[in-house]
Amino acid sequence: MSLTHPAHADRTDANRDVRIALLGCGTVGSGVARLLVNSTSSVPARSGVDYWLAGIGVRSLSKPRPPEIPAGLFTEDARGLVDDPTIDVVIECIGGTGVAAEFVVAALEARKHVVTANKDLLATRGPELRALAAARGVTIAYEAAVGGAIPIVRTIAESLAGEEILEVGGVLNGTTNFILSEMFGGATYAGALAAAQRLGFAETDPTNDVAGIDAAHKLAILAQLAFRRGLVTHEIPRTGITALSRDDHGLAKRAGWRLKLIACARTDSSIVTPAYVPTEHPFAQPVGPQNCIRVTGRSSGSLTFAGTGAGSGPTASSVVGDVVAVLRRITANRNAGVSTASTMLEPVREDVLEKSIPLRRVLRLATLGDVRPAREALVGSGIAAEPLDGLPAVVTAPLDSEGARCIETLIAAREIGAASVIPLWEDLSVVPSTSPLLEV
Ligand SMILES: NC(=O)c1ccc[n+]([C@@H]2O[C@H](COP(=O)([O-])OP(=O)(O)OC[C@H]3O[C@@H](n4cnc5c(N)ncnc54)[C@H](OP(=O)(O)O)[C@@H]3O)[C@@H](O)[C@H]2O)c1
Repeated sequence: MSLTHPAHADRTDANRDVRIALLGCGTVGSGVARLLVNSTSSVPARSGVDYWLAGIGVRSLSKPRPPEIPAGLFTEDARGLVDDPTIDVVIECIGGTGVAAEFVVAALEARKHVVTANKDLLATRGPELRALAAARGVTIAYEAAVGGAIPIVRTIAESLAGEEILEVGGVLNGTTNFILSEMFGGATYAGALAAAQRLGFAETDPTNDVAGIDAAHKLAILAQLAFRRGLVTHEIPRTGITALSRDDHGLAKRAGWRLKLIACARTDSSIVTPAYVPTEHPFAQPVGPQNCIRVTGRSSGSLTFAGTGAGSGPTASSVVGDVVAVLRRITANRNAGVSTASTMLEPVREDVLEKSIPLRRVLRLATLGDVRPAREALVGSGIAAEPLDGLPAVVTAPLDSEGARCIETLIAAREIGAASVIPLWEDLSVVPSTSPLLEV
């Protein structure tokens, strides 16, 4: 049974109930609170331990709250909950890297397990927080920080712990995917953004989403897990979707592609970029606010996960899944008489993946007709450009970032009239470890 009575528990009693504090009761926090106070919740049965939801820290007590959450639980003294020595688990649903970071650090320092949905925090300070949790023998769990209800964090950290991961990423931001889906249907960028804001898929200030920052946060978290490296958001080469036009989508239609915001990391490189993706590719499939995440391992091959990447219900479900995992760990530690940290707390390496993933670029030329002048200008600069079959005003060129810079120079000097230069997504070619090629 889930309990909400804030009774004081005896910390020396190995079988006592676990006491949980929830920080934040907005979109995600209210969903979590509903699940935790629900008397028919299966959380205790699944975790093998009863818990008390001891308090909910919020900014303002004057805001209306869901009626099913007991009013007596709310407090404006969130820090008091974190500092309460009887609290075992802190769930952080405030967001951002300000006060939320302060609370998470204080909780870990005090040997409390932390569950959080805070991608900004994990993406920018993940390596440091994981090291702190490991040093204190507690868990920091953050399944909800990437892909809402899609179970990707624990899949990489635990199910794929024995795998050599070569690539991770995909369509990680639902807001931009909604906007790009609308534009594919004929909307302008401004019209699609307005629709996303009207439907609650985009915030009033959409910068974090449309500039690719949110996707880079999630990619940093996935890459930290997949490659055990301290990659943080600002090290990822990033381009957002604001410069894309209806004509770019028109080209995608004619070529049998979709335009998607792809966030992807490989063992030595990473990128967040709009890219043309062949229609049959898994990254082309998500519509509206859906996400698609693919992990490619040397032995496992490619595994694809898809689903709703945000929203109160899916994200809260993911947070509560982490709570059950933490409660199970507490039970296991008590039975073993020891305190062990989460298996996801691998040490991270110092080196980073700052290199950009090299991708072929598609140049949509400003004038229809003969592509030869543009092609010759490119060839003259050492870039082997090819016309694209059936599309007269398009050439493609295989480019690293130096080649991309060279094209920018040619465009600036008006030597080629390019209306847009957008990467064409190319999969990593994976050689399975059992391939005879490797035995040569
Ligand atoms: N929304 C999603 O779909 C989604 C999906 C995945 C992950 N996330 C992540 O989940 C986290 C929460 O997002 P959200 O959308 O639920 O945010 P939100 O709706 O804005 O809720 C934030 C909550 O934090 C509380 N809060 C703010 N400052 C506080 C302070 N100083 N002390 C105590 N409480 C404080 C607010 O209190 P008041 O209610 O009193 O204002 C509010 O309840 C973020 O890290 C976000 O990135 C969200």
